[in-house]
Amino acid sequence: MRTLTGIQPSGTLHIGNYFGAMQPAIQAQTRGDCFYFIADYHSMTSLTDAAERRKNSRDVALDWLACGLDPAKSVFWQQSDVPQVCELSWILGTLTPMGLLERAHSYKDKIAKGISPNFGLFAYPVLMAADILLFNSNRVPVGRDQKQHVEMTRDIAIKFNQTYGETFVVPESEIREGVATVPGLDGQKMSKSYGNVLEIFGDEKALRKKIMSIVMDSRTPQEPKPDADRNIAIQLLKLVAPAAVAADFENRLRAGGLGYGDLKQALFEHYWQFFAEFRAKRAELAADPGYVDRVLAEGAERARTVAAEVLGRARSASGLA
Ligand code: ADP
Ligand code: TRP
Repeated sequence: MRTLTGIQPSGTLHIGNYFGAMQPAIQAQTRGDCFYFIADYHSMTSLTDAAERRKNSRDVALDWLACGLDPAKSVFWQQSDVPQVCELSWILGTLTPMGLLERAHSYKDKIAKGISPNFGLFAYPVLMAADILLFNSNRVPVGRDQKQHVEMTRDIAIKFNQTYGETFVVPESEIREGVATVPGLDGQKMSKSYGNVLEIFGDEKALRKKIMSIVMDSRTPQEPKPDADRNIAIQLLKLVAPAAVAADFENRLRAGGLGYGDLKQALFEHYWQFFAEFRAKRAELAADPGYVDRVLAEGAERARTVAAEVLGRARSASGLA
């Protein structure tokens, strides 16, 4: 059973990334082999500042390692260190119907937001399919927004297998209910591009301020709130506090008598506590700048070995040299 996922170095990682993709990926280390990478080629579709990409890639690597990615259990690399993925992307692109790409929600959303599309953005799901298929992946932990991309990967793998013979493993997405879409400070999906995130490794004062500024309604503390489960602070508390504590706050909010200020204060404290160990680990790792380089270099080496074998099969199946 092989688990694979990637995260773009397009900004600071937030708890949507953590609960949607990283936590399941890290937990998967106990049940099989794991392949995780920093999707720097993908980030080129939205970020054109080279220095920023370089810095983000390093930060994302540190974040993953601090959150528990163990290089003894997982292969961890930077996507562009294994350029074979671009060749596979070309091969898969020749079997990908235009209509399939035109239906991609994430592409359509970006266009709707006024981003002027380039070919890379349109072809994004093909590169993502190549990422997944190049490593014989079985499971792909992601948030709900990526479900369609994994389905497209399945369609493309099946099409290749039918056209050129059994070559690729057909993967499945792993999407956890409850964390499939972590809400942001404004109640929309938490996302780097919406400016509504809580960073995993944010500054204490700034995080407290963000949490205290989550907008609530104008009902008085005494009023019962039958919709307590839809409250953003409650939803976030369920992620970072022990289940019994979160349930207690939810019940108190529903019954009436709990003020929003007290609820947000509790959310901040549990949030800060939840990531405390990871923060300490990150500080320790950051003190040895050579460490990340060594981990990624070794990971790239191991990733290239698998990539060469699978790409070789795809080339030979499709009649390339
Ligand atoms: P962003 O939307 O902030 O740019 P990415 O697209 O880089 O995040 O997502 C990286 C991973 O984190 C993907 O697997 C994605 O599904 C997951 N993810 C991102 N935001 C959320 C969220 N709010 N809830 C759950 N998972 C998320
Ligand atoms: N598209 C993913 C995102 O924006 C990142 C990604 C790239 C990915 N390649 C992948 C995720 C392969 C899982 C598997 O979040």
